[in-house]
Amino acid sequence: MLWQTLLLAAGAPWAAAQSLQGLNHLRFGCSQITIERLDPLVNPGEFPTPHMHQVVGGNAFNATIKPNTDVASLATCTTCGPAEDFSNYWTANVYYQSPTNKSYRRVPQVPNRFLFNDRFTTQISGGIVVYYIAPKKNTVTAFKPGFRMFVGDVTRKTPLYKMQSCYRCYSGPNFGGDDMAPCSDSRLDFESFPPKPCPGGIRSNVLYPTCWDGKNLDSPNHKDHVAYPTGGPSNFLSTGNCPSTHPVKIPQLMLEIVWDTTKFNSKADWPTDGSQPFLLSTGDKTGYGQHGDYVFGWKGDALQRAMDANGCFSATCGNLKSQDIATANKCTIKKTVREDVDGWFDRLPGTPME
Ligand SMILES: *[C@@H]1O[C@H](CO)[C@@H](O)[C@H](O)[C@H]1NC(C)=O
Ligand SMILES: *[C@@H]1O[C@H](CO)[C@@H](O)[C@H](O)[C@H]1NC(C)=O
Repeated sequence: MLWQTLLLAAGAPWAAAQSLQGLNHLRFGCSQITIERLDPLVNPGEFPTPHMHQVVGGNAFNATIKPNTDVASLATCTTCGPAEDFSNYWTANVYYQSPTNKSYRRVPQVPNRFLFNDRFTTQISGGIVVYYIAPKKNTVTAFKPGFRMFVGDVTRKTPLYKMQSCYRCYSGPNFGGDDMAPCSDSRLDFESFPPKPCPGGIRSNVLYPTCWDGKNLDSPNHKDHVAYPTGGPSNFLSTGNCPSTHPVKIPQLMLEIVWDTTKFNSKADWPTDGSQPFLLSTGDKTGYGQHGDYVFGWKGDALQRAMDANGCFSATCGNLKSQDIATANKCTIKKTVREDVDGWFDRLPGTPME
């Protein structure tokens, strides 16, 4: 494929990716708090918004979260493993389109693989696995109350070579091929939706910028106050130097979502013209428009303590308080937009771009 050739020409960033090993990383699961057409960052006050999202985290999430709001002071519960993380994280959902009748169906999510001692991760309901990564202790500045950001470009139809998002095509059942670092392997990782059925389903990885201007909690496009390291793609995971405009190194926030596409892997379920059948809730059939939203909401200095802890690993950094999965799954919000999110649909919910 053309873009793979270009990647190689640009210095093979996929191959140069860092592994998580040896880096301080906090990793935990968060159940869905809602699947709903809401987006307080990009479409504040709108309900419904143009496309569907899945949202995890604290229960202060709603159609409006005013700028400078410390959601940690408003939320009373969270669907995330750490009891002190009231942040909200949200991404577009993935849909399948039948090649025969053109109907759409939301692709179910499965909890991520059981890793280390993080039982929580495997027991979440749908949801997202969240990572906060630092090169080592005392190397990053945690986000401030009211901080928010957006990564990706909903309208993008071409690759970006920045490794800010990719799809891992699991090579076998049971998360086969999961041992490689995210967005690191050109045989398994695609910036677009994988062009072939993935025997173990598809994992989305969304990596946020790792440098901050040190002043603004947000910016009009929710992106300009943050930046990528000067060294480009191979300097992800917070290990690269920050540009002078954005000198403050922040944790590498990364989201992982596992889509159970395996129900749609048979030949009859795939288009005969060689295209693939999945699309984002935005209507994007390429997958390049994958994006992630974030509203910071850790209580007090809990995230900073975790990032400064010695040998932070999995969900156990810095004496973070965790909660059990049953408590997390009790955290809910009232739906603002009343519409079905499951079953077959003649059209995608909302007014997607295509
Ligand atoms: C959202 O939450 C805020 C703060 O609790 C509240 O003021 C607002 O009315 C809520 N609802 C909407 C639709 O924004
Ligand atoms: C559309 O086709 C799929 C198979 O690809 C089938 O499972 C589904 O029931 C059909 N939906 C409708 C509304 O006919």
